[in-house]
Amino acid sequence: MNRRDFLNASLAVTATAAFSRHAHAHPLAVPTDASMPPVDVAGARFPKGFHWGTATASYQVEGAWKEDGKGESVWDRFAHTVGKVKGGDTGDVACDSYHRYKEDIAIMKQLNQKSCRFSVSWPRIQPTGSGAVNQKGLDFYSRYVDALLEAGIRPMCTLYHWDLPQELEDKGGWPNRDLVNLFADYAGIVTKTLGDRVTTWAIFNEPWVFTYLGYGIGIHAPGKKDVNLFLKASHTVNLAQGQAFRAMKAASPKAKVGSAFSMSPGAPATDSKADHAAADRYHAINNVFFLHTAIYGEYPKAFVGEPPYDVMGVKEGDGKIMQVPLDWVGINYYNRHTISNAPHGEPHTQFDAVMPAVGPLTYMGWEVWPRGLYDIITQISKEYNRPIIEITENGCSYLDSPLAEDKGGVPDQRRINYYRDHLAELARAIKDGADVRGYHAWSLLDNYEWAEGYGQRFGLVYVDFRDQKRTIKNSGHWYSKVAAANHLNV
Ligand code: NOJ
Repeated sequence: MNRRDFLNASLAVTATAAFSRHAHAHPLAVPTDASMPPVDVAGARFPKGFHWGTATASYQVEGAWKEDGKGESVWDRFAHTVGKVKGGDTGDVACDSYHRYKEDIAIMKQLNQKSCRFSVSWPRIQPTGSGAVNQKGLDFYSRYVDALLEAGIRPMCTLYHWDLPQELEDKGGWPNRDLVNLFADYAGIVTKTLGDRVTTWAIFNEPWVFTYLGYGIGIHAPGKKDVNLFLKASHTVNLAQGQAFRAMKAASPKAKVGSAFSMSPGAPATDSKADHAAADRYHAINNVFFLHTAIYGEYPKAFVGEPPYDVMGVKEGDGKIMQVPLDWVGINYYNRHTISNAPHGEPHTQFDAVMPAVGPLTYMGWEVWPRGLYDIITQISKEYNRPIIEITENGCSYLDSPLAEDKGGVPDQRRINYYRDHLAELARAIKDGADVRGYHAWSLLDNYEWAEGYGQRFGLVYVDFRDQKRTIKNSGHWYSKVAAANHLNV
């Protein structure tokens, strides 16, 4: 590695530590509650009509990457670029759900599911990201929604789960403000077509993740590494969220529109004022940078000193564009962080975020910390005046695989424990006043885990990627009983 590469690599690591939930465990940063708090499984209660569900995303499961007129997406391009994804894995085939969706929906039905969170691939609908609509793409999602409704499952449709049409990236991608209206057009098209049957919509999935990992540190598509691009992209996305919301309501007045945000509670590493202030900045940029803007029409206090609004391209009147009364707030929860002040860290935010390792680690290396789900739900519920919340994702990767045919099943007790304990903490948050209407396990199927390729398995259902055979894991059977019983004593 020459000096320049070395510097780049070190900068990337610093930046990751400063912003990311993907930071490595740091044994010194463990807060004082250094043991797994007990959870109340037997006492867990869920409201009547609670939406038990699973989640997937287009690029991660569909495959058929150039079928029926679909255009190229940034993830197609990224995955096809040597060295970007572990093992050179691509989503070209993935779980082949584009062809096997009926089988997948039959599995959801068998598992007593009440809600299915899926995403629409923008380049299936508009292959180049603007202009003419590809009817075959729309027809696919129309059939998908019909099949869900027939199975008695609520469709929860996410409009953007990271597969930007490549042609829009070639025009600058999310840092380019033109995407605000292009995205709103796309949102209107899909809502108009499916809005007679779909009422629950998420605009974006994890806007912080795709802007920061994609433009800030380059470990996701489109692989750019520039903090200023991240800042610009995040502002375009905030504006696009507002404009899409309006376009969707115009296309379908009964639409209930929210977004799914990645959220990871951050506790100050010490009681110092500086660490507390750092934890507030972390929360502002990592958790609510795309929620606060919608609710209040202004950015939360994420920065040290003068906010970089010039770099972000903020213009007068933008607050009004960003501000929309989201009907519900989606939370994707995986782990927690400990935050300390870092004056020499990333210049605008100056904090260091590390993931503790008190709880056991999953195969992703993420700490299992069920209490974090309680903490983030109750924090958001308090801060934003008790909004309707949906848990849009929560889950874990373990590699357990099927036993021999005659023995049957996939023994994945760790995943059962994971869900049981998180759900107990979710029930406690509801008991303490949060208005949570649904929960979506990530994921229905083992699938394409972005830069990790097929090396991670998050599914309740095992997928053999050699022949696409699906096998329900023990956790899937367990979750099915929970969904039917509406409690955890199963
Ligand atoms: C968040 C993302 O929305 C999803 O695409 C991803 O697979 C899971 N988390 C697990 O990392």
